Amino acid sequence: MEHSITDEINARRTFAIISHPDAGKTTITEKLLYFGGAIRDAGTVKGRKTGKYATSDWMEIEKQRGISVTSSVMQFDYDGKKVNILDTPGHEDFSEDTYRTLMAVDAAVMMIDVARGVEPQTIKLFKVCRMRGIPIFTFINKMDRQGKEPLDLMEELEEVLGIESYAMNWPIGMGKEFLGIYDRFNNRIEQARVEGEDRFLALNEDGELADTHPMMDSSYYDQALEDIMLLNEAGNEFSEERVAKGELTPVFFGSALTNFGVQTFLETFLQFAPRPQARLTTEEEAINPHEEEFSGFIFKIQANMNPAHRDRIAFVRIVSGAFNRGMTVTVPRLSRSFKLTQTTQFLADDRETVNEAVAGDIIGLHDTGNYQIGDTVIGGKSSFSFAALPQFTPELFVRVTAKNVMKSKHFHKGILQLVQEGAIQYYRTLHTEELLLGAVGQLQFEVFEHRMKNEYNVEVQMENIGSKVARWIHNEADVKESMAGQRAMLVKDRYDKLVFLFENDFAMRWFHDRNPEIELYSLL
Ligand code: G4P
Repeated sequence: MEHSITDEINARRTFAIISHPDAGKTTITEKLLYFGGAIRDAGTVKGRKTGKYATSDWMEIEKQRGISVTSSVMQFDYDGKKVNILDTPGHEDFSEDTYRTLMAVDAAVMMIDVARGVEPQTIKLFKVCRMRGIPIFTFINKMDRQGKEPLDLMEELEEVLGIESYAMNWPIGMGKEFLGIYDRFNNRIEQARVEGEDRFLALNEDGELADTHPMMDSSYYDQALEDIMLLNEAGNEFSEERVAKGELTPVFFGSALTNFGVQTFLETFLQFAPRPQARLTTEEEAINPHEEEFSGFIFKIQANMNPAHRDRIAFVRIVSGAFNRGMTVTVPRLSRSFKLTQTTQFLADDRETVNEAVAGDIIGLHDTGNYQIGDTVIGGKSSFSFAALPQFTPELFVRVTAKNVMKSKHFHKGILQLVQEGAIQYYRTLHTEELLLGAVGQLQFEVFEHRMKNEYNVEVQMENIGSKVARWIHNEADVKESMAGQRAMLVKDRYDKLVFLFENDFAMRWFHDRNPEIELYSLL
């Protein structure tokens, strides 16, 4: 059957899963791909998970695979929808790219380990989603294990993340005593360890089991009913509108490993997950997905770690229209056009060349060094740029020099290009003009070192100066150099803005007590 482009766009659901390492992101991704028929065996993604390897192995894996993008975007069909899951690398792969990926999605799923609750990396990623005002769906995982009390977890979401929550379902027991979930949304109970349609039990008007069932004798069932009553009376009301704005997170309980509650989650999620959304330009004009003209922006550039293939892949989130192979696009920043022939789209298992992709989809463009992160690409005659992607506050710093001073020119050229590309950030000390590199993840340094050697033929020396709390200054004119010290380095960023690098939060508070007039702020 022929589908119009409008139908195609409306069928897209593009999201990312955010979580702290080990919460179960890979496991649930496999299950989702499995339901979508994108993989036959729910063990395929796992074995390739880069986070399970040390960085040195990672380089090797990159080489073997050519490029590690096979899992960057995964697409599958479900219930007439085309679902795009964007990978947000964690573990040793955590980098600014992880944050930037969140700029390219329309919704996020937040995975939380029932025993660990809200963890640091989840908080960081959550903040980015919150800033964008996208819907956030919560999956509380590992219900087959003992964990925190569900009511306490709901409170934690509100207190730690500051987001209101609505329980779509509620666990009946936990760990070995996990009997299933009370599905408030679908008005039924889904039993654990029961397969097929038999696993669903109907509820009556009072919200209790309609037919006699052994579960009724369990105190966990009574407890769940009691909790639900409390939620009905004192909990938040469900509001689709507030979910859409990211003000209210629908919460689901389940177990990715035992595949419990995942399919129900997927189905409910797809009911509420938004279609591709409009994006603002620098002029604050909204570009609607259904506009005829193809447009998109580059949110990630992946370098090929294999020196035999110097090309890179620029990932584009399509904002409007449709992409066709062989089309010509303009990059307003460069006032240049490119004919796009070699475009690849990445599915779970195979690398496929895409012929057509529409708003909501992600495509990978081969790049020989032309594109930068944040670039707008346009298929027609218009000229505009999408609003800039945010810069993120780095947390790790190294001092960097060229091993061979004779290579200084290449060294500076390489750094400049890699910084522009968004691979790393740089800072300079005030008088000595020493160069510091800043990153959100250790991997960025390793990639930097590797690429400087392979692409610019410069060996670099990096001296670790550890993690720092970086803060920019609203009233720069009031800053005196004497305020800086061992625990508060004063440096300039690439735009010549002053930045304090504090040794830790304590040093920052101490500084603030001493210099209350200095107004510090962090980027995202
Ligand atoms: P991540 O991508 O978020 O880092 O997490 P991943 O899916 O790799 O899961 C981390 C660990 O948690 C894995 O165990 C995985 O099997 C386990 N896990 C995921 N979901 C559930 C669940 O619902 N219940 C239970 N009990 N465990 C779960 P591992 O021992 O690190 O890996 P493996 O050796 O078992 O593969």
